[in-house]
Amino acid sequence: MDSFTPDALLEGMRRRSQTGPRHLLEPGPDARQQQQLFEAAAAAPDHGQILPWRWVVVPASARQRLADAFEAALLERDPAAGQAERERAREKASRAPFLALAIVREGGDGQQHITLHERLASLGCALQNLLLMATCQGFAVGLASGLALRSRALADCFALAAGERAVCFVAVGSAARRRAPRERPHPARFVSELQPAAD
Ligand SMILES: Cc1cc2nc3c(=O)[nH]c(=O)nc-3n(C[C@H](O)[C@H](O)[C@H](O)COP(=O)(O)O)c2cc1C
Repeated sequence: MDSFTPDALLEGMRRRSQTGPRHLLEPGPDARQQQQLFEAAAAAPDHGQILPWRWVVVPASARQRLADAFEAALLERDPAAGQAERERAREKASRAPFLALAIVREGGDGQQHITLHERLASLGCALQNLLLMATCQGFAVGLASGLALRSRALADCFALAAGERAVCFVAVGSAARRRAPRERPHPARFVSELQPAAD
């Protein structure tokens, strides 16, 4: 089995998202590579194997439909939005050759002992696995959220069931330009050690 050195793995993680969806161009992952992306997602830990998340890929043929949903989402929150804003909302649907929506199931499945925190942790792992696989394939990646994710229009477009929430879009493609790598927080900022009980 091939193995990563810790340094190579860290380097891949740091390079992961040095671009935004706007700067992701063709080529994107082909069918086999997309399969690998989702096989990587499927390797995420999943307490109780309840599969608390799913993904919806938005192929080129459905980008107009997504653009309609983004525009409708804008009009839900601002019925007076002008033409330029509407165009900006629509344009987001055409970014990146590969675009998929990540959806978490909050509950309603008789598995409430597995909390939303755990479900989101599982989705986060699936997301990270997918991002790392895309990086390993040589692509650049980006995540996109925003107010539209909470709209009725988007829920209808993606047929979200009761108890499901859209979390973010994952975009994968070839980087038109990369951001300079940002400095990552030193572990000392977020790691502490439990102290023994005081006598
Ligand atoms: C769930 C989620 C949603 C995100 N949505 C956006 C977004 O809509 N726009 C954005 O610029 N960054 C968004 N980000 C942040 C980017 O993924 C990324 O962290 C940021 O571009 C900086 O890259 P870096 O963390 O590799 O330095 C999101 C991150 C997460 C975890």
